[in-house]
Amino acid sequence: MNKGLFISFEGSDGTGKSTQVRLLTEYLRSEGYDVLLTREPGGTVISERIRNIILDPSTPEMDGHTEALLYAASRAQLVAEVLRPAIESGKIVICDRFMDSSIAYQGYARGLGQDTIRMINEFAVHGLQPDITFFMDLPPEKAMLRVESQGHKDRLEAEDMNFHDKVYQGFKELSRFYDKRYVRIDASESIEEISEKIRQYFRDYVERRDRA
Ligand code: TYD
Repeated sequence: MNKGLFISFEGSDGTGKSTQVRLLTEYLRSEGYDVLLTREPGGTVISERIRNIILDPSTPEMDGHTEALLYAASRAQLVAEVLRPAIESGKIVICDRFMDSSIAYQGYARGLGQDTIRMINEFAVHGLQPDITFFMDLPPEKAMLRVESQGHKDRLEAEDMNFHDKVYQGFKELSRFYDKRYVRIDASESIEEISEKIRQYFRDYVERRDRA
C-alpha cells in the first residue's frame, strides 16, 4: 500500500474511542505500516494551546460561536501542519475525532446548525475528508456513566444529558449521511471484540483498495 490513508474515530465521550484508537495504531505499526496518530482538538503546538482554552472548565461563559471557531482554528493548523503532509507522503493517519465532531457537538448539540458548521470547517480543511470513519456507537446514558466513573470532566463533558443526547443523535445522522465512509461499531461489546472488528474492516478495506 503506497497511498496515504486517513482514518478518523468519532463518537460521544465515554465510548472507549481513545482505547480503540491506540489499539488500532499499535496493530498497524506491528504490521509494518507507517502510522501517524493524532487527536482533536490538538496535535500541534498551536492546536494544543487552543485545546486548553476550549476545554477549560473554569470558563463556562464561552459563547458557542467562539467555541465553534476555536475548534475550526485548531483543525486548520492540524490539517496544514500535520495531516495533509502526512497523507501526501503515504502514511496512515489516525485521528481521534475530526470535523464530524464539530457538526455533532457545535452543529447539533449547541444548535448552531450543521450547515454553518460545515461551512466554517470547509474553510479550515479545504476539502480534506477521512477515507474511513469508525463511529463508536453507545447510547449517551451508558457513555456518561463511564465518564462519571473517570472523575474529572472537561467543559464539554460537564454539559447536561440533553446536550449529550443531541450529540449522539447528530452522530447517528452523520453515519446515515456519510454511509460510504462511516463504519458503525457497537461500543457495548468487549474491547477485544471491537478491536478485532476494526482490524478486520481495515484489512478488507485495504484489500479492496489495492485490487481497484
Ligand atoms: P476529546 O479529546 O475526545 O476528549 P477526551 O480526551 O476527554 O475523551 O475531546 C474533547 C471534547 O471536545 C469532547 O467533549 C468533544 C469535544 N469536541 C467538540 O465539541 N467539537 C469538536 O470539533 C471536537 C474535535 C471535539
